Amino acid sequence: MGIVIAIDGPAGSGKGTITKLVAEKLGIVNIDTGAMYRCVALDCLNKNVMPEELDKIAQILEHIDIQLLREGEKQIVLLNGQDVSKEIRTERVDAAVAKYAAIKIVRDKITPIQQKMGDDRNIIMEGRDIGTIVFPNADVKIFLDCSIEERAKRRYKQNTERGLNTPYEEILSSLIERNKLETEREVAPLVKAEDAILVDSSKLNIQEVTDRVLKIIEEELNRKGKKI
Ligand code: DC
Repeated sequence: MGIVIAIDGPAGSGKGTITKLVAEKLGIVNIDTGAMYRCVALDCLNKNVMPEELDKIAQILEHIDIQLLREGEKQIVLLNGQDVSKEIRTERVDAAVAKYAAIKIVRDKITPIQQKMGDDRNIIMEGRDIGTIVFPNADVKIFLDCSIEERAKRRYKQNTERGLNTPYEEILSSLIERNKLETEREVAPLVKAEDAILVDSSKLNIQEVTDRVLKIIEEELNRKGKKI
């Protein structure tokens, strides 16, 4: 097994951006596990299968093929052979994914696939349950938190830059709802692993968070006598 760095935290904490930058700096593979749950949600939505229809979801899971590829800087996500990199980030998937990600049979299918990805290489994996469920023995565990107001502000700014004008209040209330779903679900809830190191990004910029995360990784690996 290679070195595993687990980064967990809520939506909008900057996990995706930070993980990408840290992976580039360390020259290791980064794995965005949210993309895999987004694929499951998209496959179900495309086939009109609702989160309550567990038998149908089981059938979908039996045949699902998710691949995370890298093309230069870009991550390409293939669902059953089709490039869905953009489609999994649409409002439609955003709104539905938490419900599908909370289903036990979905997690029972996806978790072992993620565990296999760390078999033979050094990885940095980001998600909600990486340090608690997927890799409880990860070499480094970081929990990246951020106040919900700051997360909403960032999303609002991102949207404005993309030409979307969802009101701030609406973004905030949808984040609050998503947070509730993720932290209160029965399977694999979003929670900081006891031995994870907390980084609060509320008052830090991207560079500051990246530097802090890199320093933690270096210190933790040194402490364990490991090297990338
Ligand atoms: O990080 P994201 O917004 O792309 O995640 C999409 C959804 O998947 C979100 O509802 C949280 C869920 N998720 C999860 O339950 N476990 C993970 N390890 C990663 C994401």
